Amino acid sequence: STCKVLSPATVANVVCGFDILGFALNEPNDIITLSISNGPGVTIINADDFNLPTKAEDNVSGAALIALLEETPDVQGFTLISEKTIKPGSGIGSSAASAAGVVVAANHLLGNRFSKADLVRFAMFGEKVASGVKHADNIAPCIYGGVTLIRSIYPLDIVSLQAPLLHVTVVHPQIEVRTADARQILRQKVLLKDAIKQWGNIAGLVAGLLQGDYDLIGRSLEDVIIEPVRSILIPGFDEVKKRCKEAGALGGGISGSGPSIFMLSKDAATAAAVEKEMAAVFTRIGIAYHTHLTTI
Ligand code: HSE
Repeated sequence: STCKVLSPATVANVVCGFDILGFALNEPNDIITLSISNGPGVTIINADDFNLPTKAEDNVSGAALIALLEETPDVQGFTLISEKTIKPGSGIGSSAASAAGVVVAANHLLGNRFSKADLVRFAMFGEKVASGVKHADNIAPCIYGGVTLIRSIYPLDIVSLQAPLLHVTVVHPQIEVRTADARQILRQKVLLKDAIKQWGNIAGLVAGLLQGDYDLIGRSLEDVIIEPVRSILIPGFDEVKKRCKEAGALGGGISGSGPSIFMLSKDAATAAAVEKEMAAVFTRIGIAYHTHLTTI
């Protein structure tokens, strides 16, 4: 039998929560079609134009499925047809959607024998292929949906957070920022005064989400540690942020490790106005871009 899964884009970090917060978007979604095969290993067929590697070990989905196969001695292998609509390298969790989608599909085919936490664990092997690090802040929201807190990776401790309706505007400027590079440039030490600000913001954001307090969410969307370093990789970043906030956005910042920028808004009209500001900035600078208007 075959299982078809829509695997959503995600926004990692959520400004102040580097490596510990993420949320799933309602769109775009990758289309993943998986079946159990009689032959050993993972066969990968690309149904898009991204030319991703088809050797299982080098493929994000392949690596995740290999990790799962190690715990399913009764299964020989899988055949995957992967149709991606989330552009690789866009910063909205393209690799996580590939890694998470296949293990969710596999689990369905296998009678749901694994927990969501197990699926996150398998999918992280795919994330390691993509960026060299096993972070879960895209994978967890991709599998759990909504907003998730990764309180700990070792041992895995994922907390789903309730959130009010939030409109999300994403702009993807067509420049390349590799996650590995965007991690390499970060400082390894943090000043205590910055740490205090940051954990104040993380706590404020979590409280704001749980209480549905849009003003508190907006005030807490501030990152004094990662964004000042990474934003230099994204031309127009400061201007986008300033203009979007003036247009009424609650706040936002770099999506994951970039280059996409996301903004949260309380209503659809504001989110559409924000999209116009994003478009205006990248048109002026002369960088091609795509935008997405969606909700959490
Ligand atoms: N938390 C990761 C980072 C997400 O910011 O490097 C990468 O998508």
